[in-house]
Amino acid sequence: MLIPFASWPEIDARIKTNKAIVVPIGSNEQHGPTGLLGTDWLCPEIIAHAAERRDESLTVAPTFNIGMAQHHLAFAGTISLRPSTFMAAITDWVSSLSRHGFERIYFLNGHGGNVATIEATFAEIYAEWSFVEEAPPFVLKLKNWWDLPGVNALCNAIFPTGHGMHATPSEIAVTQAAYPDRIKTADYAPKIAPSGPIRDALDYRARFPDGRIGSDPGQASPEKGQQIIDAAVPALLKDVAAFAAEVLPGR
Ligand code: NI
Repeated sequence: MLIPFASWPEIDARIKTNKAIVVPIGSNEQHGPTGLLGTDWLCPEIIAHAAERRDESLTVAPTFNIGMAQHHLAFAGTISLRPSTFMAAITDWVSSLSRHGFERIYFLNGHGGNVATIEATFAEIYAEWSFVEEAPPFVLKLKNWWDLPGVNALCNAIFPTGHGMHATPSEIAVTQAAYPDRIKTADYAPKIAPSGPIRDALDYRARFPDGRIGSDPGQASPEKGQQIIDAAVPALLKDVAAFAAEVLPGR
């Protein structure tokens, strides 16, 4: 069930039998000269929606499509939340979902730059309950889509060189598989982009002039993207099922 395409009575009924929900979460940020700005929210959305098509008992929230991308702000089109805004927004999403009875909230993330802030948000949320010596009525989980079992290994096997850290051929391929009429091409110079630390936006633009870090997205293809999606979908279904079935001690 995709929440944006469901009615409230359908969601009401769903919560009675299945209290787990997947929230695709990412970022709208530059992805090199050919990558779509939506890459980091499109990838988890593509995988979660494909999983829902495979198994309708999976409940998927609207995609949280703006994240923490301050370091990409020197490139046009990037939209970023500062960490504190991002934390406040995630907290309100969790409160809204929890209010209606979702008890297992699984964030499927597509942007490495979100990880620290999402983890800090989980700690903030849990702290509210820990201070009053009560158990929260929900548990939270963060999983990067590339960390789903088997996916990273597959990406490294498909792209043994030039995978890199940003605008990777894996993520570009996943978007190409889902949106083949949006594929863009460019002459990459150098073929494999430089690597280095991530700091502020001007430093980033100076170090990584076309936006890529360590990657050669020219290796991407829709076929390779489909291979990655086909590996990620069953891995996601299995991981969410295990999270939903997890026994919570003391409750
Ligand atoms: Ni990305």
